[in-house]
Amino acid sequence: MLTTNDIRRGFLDYFGAAGHRIVPSAPLVPQNDPTLMFVNAGMVPFKNVFTGLETRPYGTAVSAQKCVRAGGKHNDLDNVGYTARHHTFFEMLGNFSFGQYFKAEAIEHAWTLLTKVWGLDPARLTVTVYHTDDEAFDLWRKIAGLPDDRIIRIATNDNFWSMGDTGPCGPCSEIFFDHGPHIPGGPPGSPDEDGDRFVEIWNLVFMQYEQVDAGTRLDLPRPSIDTGMGLERIAAVLQGVHDN
Ligand code: ALA
Repeated sequence: MLTTNDIRRGFLDYFGAAGHRIVPSAPLVPQNDPTLMFVNAGMVPFKNVFTGLETRPYGTAVSAQKCVRAGGKHNDLDNVGYTARHHTFFEMLGNFSFGQYFKAEAIEHAWTLLTKVWGLDPARLTVTVYHTDDEAFDLWRKIAGLPDDRIIRIATNDNFWSMGDTGPCGPCSEIFFDHGPHIPGGPPGSPDEDGDRFVEIWNLVFMQYEQVDAGTRLDLPRPSIDTGMGLERIAAVLQGVHDN
């Protein structure tokens, strides 16, 4: 059985072999961001790279970032202890492209790692796209061969990810694992979606905009990629249990 350490290492090595710089987790208290109390996503340490304020000696990166979601825009606290999948502290596995690649490559990498490297059964995977994102819909059909009824269009903010009230943002595509009919819950977009049967394991964000203030949204200098997979959730899946 893969241990959590094997899974973290496997993720970093997969993207490292695909040319991504392996970047250590930043501290939980943001070093570069007065808008947040704690790092709440893998992209936070790279926020200024997405917006073009800062450059790094690499164009793609991969990390396993320590995160806390106990307040602010991404607050999981009320779910902890009630679901099989929420924590206050967790690790987010993520690959990032700063203007180097976009939707097609992000989907290709995610599908390859999940189904070819880790051997997940494609029949247990369902994805969502932002309702207007025909491009992502077509890419999932082409790259993963998913049938149309397992590429679900979602019109809410669940499929438009932003870091906070300000910062980089864009439409996203989420990948769900079906833990099976013995667990209560329904597919994304259904009335029972909050159950633990279909668990979001990986979010691919197509970073395209920067929210500067409530009324101003600018295009990012270059379309970019920010992804996040919950280490504890993928560990549950790969270890054949449904509860983190
Ligand atoms: N930043 C995205 C998230 O936290 C990947 O879901």
